[in-house]
This record gives sequence, structure tokens and C-alpha cells, in this order.
Amino acid sequence: MEDVGSIFDAAQREFHRLTTAVWAPAGQSLVFQLGLRPGDAVLDVCCGAGSSAIPAAAAVGSSGLVHAVDLADELLEQGRLEASERGLQNIEFVCADATEWEPPSTVPEIGYDALACSYGVFFLPHMDAAFTRLAGLVRPGGKVGITVWRHGALREFADSFFDAVARHGVPRQELAKIPFDILERMDTPDGLHQWLGELGTHSTEVRELSNVLPATPEFVWDLVMGGPMRGALTPFDAQTVEVIRRDFLELLTERVIHDIDAGTLVGTAVVKGLHST
Ligand SMILES: C[S@@+](CC[C@H](N)C(=O)[O-])C[C@H]1O[C@@H](n2cnc3c(N)ncnc32)[C@H](O)[C@@H]1O
Repeated sequence: MEDVGSIFDAAQREFHRLTTAVWAPAGQSLVFQLGLRPGDAVLDVCCGAGSSAIPAAAAVGSSGLVHAVDLADELLEQGRLEASERGLQNIEFVCADATEWEPPSTVPEIGYDALACSYGVFFLPHMDAAFTRLAGLVRPGGKVGITVWRHGALREFADSFFDAVARHGVPRQELAKIPFDILERMDTPDGLHQWLGELGTHSTEVRELSNVLPATPEFVWDLVMGGPMRGALTPFDAQTVEVIRRDFLELLTERVIHDIDAGTLVGTAVVKGLHST
């Protein structure tokens, strides 16, 4: 299977078109909920083109800094461009694996003030251990925050897409795995609350972000091609991909799917200090 960075690099054009409707509302909400302050040092992992990292840079101001880390060069480049258009000089987009990230010397020794990860945690191999390590880069009393899809989000849409792909000989159970099974532990407010608590945090807050988007043919195909689902199309030639696209759109019509539920949970918590419980 293609690595995740290459999939998102190839997805760049469609990913970009999804920004306003999908990535940006969650990224901005995450930044609000983290309660960042001027001067804060922020680590944003799986940052993509910066939907949370760019608002974070705006929140912490020129006395703060944001390290925005991702594996997809093309998305990082898009983020650099956007940051420069906005005149933000306090954000550095770095191509690196989040599971291996170590803070450079510009970060205070005590750690980052906040860690953000919007729609990214479920891509990390050994997710719990990887995110616990990242949370350990945040100072006691600092914050961690993630966004994840809410229970049922994208489900009907993804099922229809995978049903269309499965007609071309790829076993349905192989396709369905990406990545809903991992998500299930944290796709309800209680589940996410518990998951964040297990990282060694307190004062967890989970908010629900409703986002229901019209299932136009252009939008639903961008949603397939702008993320990991496009990986399911890798084995096929362009003609077969076109057949799959049409079958998929027909299935959406047959199943009377007019909207895409992109509901999201935004979870934040405070990293325990020496004196907190
Ligand atoms: C769904 S996108 C979300 C991007 C961005 N946070 C947003 O909300 O717009 C997931 C991102 O995670 C990145 N990613 C996956 N695994 C990663 C890893 N191990 N290290 C760094 N980035 C990773 C992908 O390259 C992709 O850009």
C-alpha cells in the first residue's frame, strides 16, 4: 500500500477544494477551544495545509511560534503559501513524521504550550503510544487538542464508495478498514473524553461540531479524492476509476443520500502537572 504522505501529496488539488467546507471549520474550532495566548509555542501534527496551524499562528502572534508537521510536502507547500499571504512569520511547516518529532532548541525546555492534531491522530501507527509521546512534549498545565469524525460521520458516503469499488473485485472487508475501526473508540463524546483522560490529562472538554454538506457530484468526488479513500483506487486504470465514480454517484442517488454528515468532535484537555490530579 502507498504511504500516507504520498496519498495526501497526490490528493493535494481536491484536498485544497475541501478546505472551506471541511478542514477549516474544525481547525478554527480546535484553536478556539485550546484557548491559545500570545507568546505560546504550539506543535501542530498532521497539519496538512495548516487548517489549525494557521489560525494557531494568528492566535499566538509574533511573540509565539507554531511548528506545523506533516509528511505530505505538497500540502506543506500550500500551507507556507497561505501563511506568507497572511504575513505570518511565526509558523514553520516541516516535512517530518510526527511519531519521531523532537522539539528544536527554539522551544522552551519545559515544553510546548499546546499540541494540536486535527483529523490526524487515527493515521498515527500505534496511535495511543504515539500520541502519548507527543503529549509528553507539552509542559505541565499546557493543552492538547484533537478533532475526530463523530460517530456515523461520512459513514453512508464511505459505504457507498466502497460498495462501488468492491464491484471491481477488491474484497469489501479490505476496503472498509480505512480507518473507521480505529476511530470507534473515540467517536462519541464519552469515548473521546475517556481516551484523552488516558493520556495523563485533566479538565477534558469535548464539543460537537455539526457540519452537514450537500452531496453534489463534485463535492462527493473531491471528498473521495482529497483524502485516504483515494488509496482504494490505486489498482485501477483511469477508465475503471471513471466507471467507479459513476457507480458511486448512482448508489448515492439510489440510497437517497442528499447530504454528507461531516460531524466532528473537538476534544481538548490539560496536561497534568506535578500538583494536579
Ligand atoms: C485528513 S488530513 C488533515 C490535515 C489537517 N490537519 C487538516 O485538518 O486540514 C491528515 C494529515 O495527516 C498527515 N499524516 C498522517 N500520518 C502522519 C505522520 N505519521 N506524521 C505526520 N503527518 C502525518 C497526512 O499527510 C495528512 O496531511
